[in-house]
Amino acid sequence: MKINAKVAATKDEWVQMAAETILSRAKQAISERGICSLVLSGGSTPAPVYTALARLGTEQNLDWEKMAVFWGDERCVPPTHPDSNYRMARETLLDHLPILPENVFRMMGELDPETAATDYEGVLNAFFHQREKRFDILLLGLGSDGHTASLFPGIDGLHETQRWVIPNRYPYSDTWRISLTYPAINQSRYIFFLVSGDAKAEVVANCMEHPQEPPPYPAKGVTGVDHPPVWLLDADAAKMIPISD
Ligand code: 6PG
Repeated sequence: MKINAKVAATKDEWVQMAAETILSRAKQAISERGICSLVLSGGSTPAPVYTALARLGTEQNLDWEKMAVFWGDERCVPPTHPDSNYRMARETLLDHLPILPENVFRMMGELDPETAATDYEGVLNAFFHQREKRFDILLLGLGSDGHTASLFPGIDGLHETQRWVIPNRYPYSDTWRISLTYPAINQSRYIFFLVSGDAKAEVVANCMEHPQEPPPYPAKGVTGVDHPPVWLLDADAAKMIPISD
């Protein structure tokens, strides 16, 4: 099975590789369409990549005013909460760049989940009103249970075919999330999984197994349309990948 993976020898090289990959696609999008729609992933893994992206983009004169920033998922907490994906991105990326405030599209985690999801659906419809409805770059993380964004094993949202944004319960505690769905994710022009560390090695290898229906790991439901997702890995996360047959 062909594995769409780029593997860096060390964590630091992985950070640089991921930032350069994102930057390259951002420049392409701006060149082709005058704007780049970038969907950020949450959790802790991407934080150093966002810091590197801010530095590298500025060094390479990326036109930040032509970047539109979205989120793939959000915890149902205020934007100032330590668990907020928006807060993590603001601290590592947005606060350091001249991105236009009107081009930062935050999921309103402080609202009730259904209202926040419906609100974000409307935000996306408005942004794509006179554009082809597909993100340019969509970043994803990977949980040890094979979840991505906030699409967790066994949730109804895995079967959503119409809505681009849904609320769903976080299965491991009495909390809620807002998440993009497979229709939104797979329509993206370029999808990148950002995964590092040996704690993710086993789940990465499991996700590389031949696709099965239904995907036992939600991340396996990420297929893309033009391009399959590319896995940006460090050697630790890649160490159990099956040798491609
Ligand atoms: C979130 C993310 C989620 C994350 C994985 C990995 O809101 O937590 O969107 O999908 O990417 O859970 O999280 P870590 O990077 O913290 O391991």
